[in-house]
Amino acid sequence: MKLLRALLVVQSLHHVSALTLDVGSTASIKKAAKALADSAMRYYDGDKPGSTPGLLPAAGEFNWWEAGALFGQMVEYWYYTGDSTYNDMTKQALVFQAGPSANYEPENQTRTEGNDDQAFWAFAAMSAAEFNFPNPDPKEPQYLALAQAVFNRQASRWDDKHCGGGLRWQFNPLNNGWMEKNAISNGCFFQLAARLARYTKNATYAQWADKTYNWIAHSPLMSPQYDIYDNIPFTETGCDGPIGQIQWTYNVGSLIAGAAYMYNHTNGSPAWKERLSGLLNSTGRVFFPQQYGGQILVEYACEPRENCNKDQRSFKGYLARWLAVAAQMAPYTRDRIMPWLQKSAQAAANVCTGDPSNVVCGRKWYEAKDDGTRDIGNQMTALSIVQSNLILNVRPPSDVHSGSSTGDPGAGNGGLTKPTDWEATRVMMKADKAGAWILTVFLLAAAGGWGWFLVSEGDEFEKGGFARQYEGSRWHVGVGHRY
Ligand SMILES: *[C@@H]1O[C@H](CO)[C@@H](O)[C@H](O)[C@H]1NC(C)=O
Ligand SMILES: *[C@@H]1O[C@H](CO)[C@@H](O)[C@H](O)[C@H]1NC(C)=O
Ligand SMILES: *[C@@H]1O[C@H](CO)[C@@H](O)[C@H](O)[C@H]1NC(C)=O
Ligand SMILES: *[C@@H]1O[C@H](CO)[C@@H](O)[C@H](O)[C@H]1NC(C)=O
Repeated sequence: MKLLRALLVVQSLHHVSALTLDVGSTASIKKAAKALADSAMRYYDGDKPGSTPGLLPAAGEFNWWEAGALFGQMVEYWYYTGDSTYNDMTKQALVFQAGPSANYEPENQTRTEGNDDQAFWAFAAMSAAEFNFPNPDPKEPQYLALAQAVFNRQASRWDDKHCGGGLRWQFNPLNNGWMEKNAISNGCFFQLAARLARYTKNATYAQWADKTYNWIAHSPLMSPQYDIYDNIPFTETGCDGPIGQIQWTYNVGSLIAGAAYMYNHTNGSPAWKERLSGLLNSTGRVFFPQQYGGQILVEYACEPRENCNKDQRSFKGYLARWLAVAAQMAPYTRDRIMPWLQKSAQAAANVCTGDPSNVVCGRKWYEAKDDGTRDIGNQMTALSIVQSNLILNVRPPSDVHSGSSTGDPGAGNGGLTKPTDWEATRVMMKADKAGAWILTVFLLAAAGGWGWFLVSEGDEFEKGGFARQYEGSRWHVGVGHRY
């Protein structure tokens, strides 16, 4: 007995990965992807009686957006591997969470949903259209129309009044982040416009993609070296708040994919090539650190310090997917991107342990051992990097000629779908909860955070000491951003 225990200890010290992966073998990649898809979906019970389709169980840290990202990955899983195990659950989730207005603004999420969250569900629907994923019943909302509905909703929220343009992080004025422009909301809107442009060939989407990219590139969200910063808080009187300077994998990733779709859509335009190359340069420099060999993807801002929050634990999975998109849409990038995907997938597989029928993975791929952390984000990121290695095996995404999803260019703003009830909800919230604003400010002030900022925003920004970078309707040229 003692001997057995000693042997078990030795076994766990000399950890052997539960996930064998040979990135040179399609069969091996598919097998590993299946184990990881199963392990990610073990977190989901929304298809069970009494549960809500499309939601991950609360368990303290519920993320509506991450559920959208999970189903996006399940659409991709089927596309990459052909395994339809999760197709029905995925279709059910994508339709159910579209909500009664068929635009991914379900009322239950009113207090948590931002533009970025909505975009992750739209991406899942867009991927379903691009890959010819089995369509919903004709009486239900259709994938392409859902993506168009979200596009229309977000285009209508474009805000020229602050910071010279861009989307706010949040669209509900009661949510934290209403007074902030951030990289992911704008990067996702740009990407959605680019994908709709490529898919539908409707020039309006390409114009929005150009406009959004240009705004980001002129703003302090992007450095001359194509580093992508997280956010810019603003006030009613200015846009000079201290920039949130942390770089996250998914921010640059959202732009990489958007630039790659535009590069392909424009038949390889030099401008999009330059941008895509610049973004890949910055990605290599920032997220594939030389100290770990230069080819392993690292969420450098939180993994080494072991303080990744719930959201951050899944970010690098999206960059993995979007790098694969770049390799597919812009073949000139393959020599650079494929080694990143291969080495990172191998490293991710190396930190997975557990029973082969219940694979669990650590978070830090750059360590040659399982760090013992557990989260659906760990499983989703591992799945994404592993299945991305199949990108050169799969057919390119379809378009309006080869696709089968029904679109509706007017969706979300009327058209064939029910008009949105968001404005009505907001009016109702204002009337029913007359004190909501005051209460929010008070509660947050008590917590010492944003509320105080709302009450005394002017002082805060002065103290922030960040150089005034915005004046009138244009960003200063040469203060640290492009053009
Ligand atoms: C909203 O919440 C209610 C109550 O939990 C639930 O019955 C309904 O299915 C939810 N709707 C969505 C779209 O999640
Ligand atoms: C666009 O993508 C397709 C599919 O991968 C590829 O064959 C084609 O070469 C790409 N176009 C350009 C200009 O790179
Ligand atoms: C990307 O990096 C390469 C190699 O350092 C360099 O030649 C190229 O000019 C860079 N591209 C951009 C757009 O910054
Ligand atoms: C192109 O897209 C725009 C924006 O959604 C829409 O208003 C217009 O009707 C579309 N045109 C066609 C021909 O579908």
